[in-house]
Amino acid sequence: MAIVGSLREGSLNRSVALTAADMCGPGTELTIFEGLAGLPYFEHDVEVAGPPASVMAFRAELKSADAVLITCPEYAAGMSGVLKNGLEWIVGGGELVGKPVAVVTASPATTGGERARAWTTETLRMMGADVLPESMSIPVAGPKMKGGRVADEATLDQLREVLAAMARSAAEKTALAAAEG
Ligand SMILES: Cc1cc2nc3c(=O)[nH]c(=O)nc-3n(C[C@H](O)[C@H](O)[C@H](O)COP(=O)(O)O)c2cc1C
Repeated sequence: MAIVGSLREGSLNRSVALTAADMCGPGTELTIFEGLAGLPYFEHDVEVAGPPASVMAFRAELKSADAVLITCPEYAAGMSGVLKNGLEWIVGGGELVGKPVAVVTASPATTGGERARAWTTETLRMMGADVLPESMSIPVAGPKMKGGRVADEATLDQLREVLAAMARSAAEKTALAAAEG
C-alpha cells in the first residue's frame, strides 16, 4: 500500500508512488490509498465514540497491507498536514505496529525534504512501525520526473532498493508469524 502525502495535481511525490507501483513484479502489488483527503480532522472524542467509515476503511487497508510506502512533501520543515492527520487516526488503531514502512520524500530543494522524512520517521516509530533504513529523500526532484513518473536512473535504482526492502521485510515477517504459529 502507498500513501501519498500531497493532494496536488502534478505532485512529485505522487509521481514517485506511481513509479513504484509500475515497478512491482509478479507476486507484488502496490495500491495507492486515495482516501487521505476524505478523512475528517482527527478528534479523539470521535475516535472514542466510534470512528467514521472513512477512517475504518483506511485502517482496514493498512491492516491488510504487507508493507507501506509513504511518499510525502516537506511543508514548512515538516510532513504535510494531511499525512499527519491520517497518521493520527492510526495511533489508536495500531495498524502500523510492526509493519514495514518506507518513507520517501521528494522536493525541489537540494535537501530533498529530509526534515519531513526525519519527522515522519519519528512519528512512525512512536506508532510502533518498522521504518526501513532504505527510506530515501529525492533532492531537486523536478528535473528527475517525466510524464508523471521518475525518469532519473539513479533515483530509479534507489527506488527499486526501497521496494525490494519492503518485499524482503514483509516476507520475513510472514515467515516469522508462520513459525510462531
Ligand atoms: C507552503 C509551502 C511550504 C513549503 N515548505 C518546504 C520546505 O520546508 N522544504 C522543502 O523542501 N520544500 C518546501 N516546499 C516546496 C515543496 O517541497 C514543493 O512544493 C513540492 O513540489 C511539494 O510536493 P508535491 O510536488 O508532491 O506536491 C514548500 C511548498 C509550499 C507550498
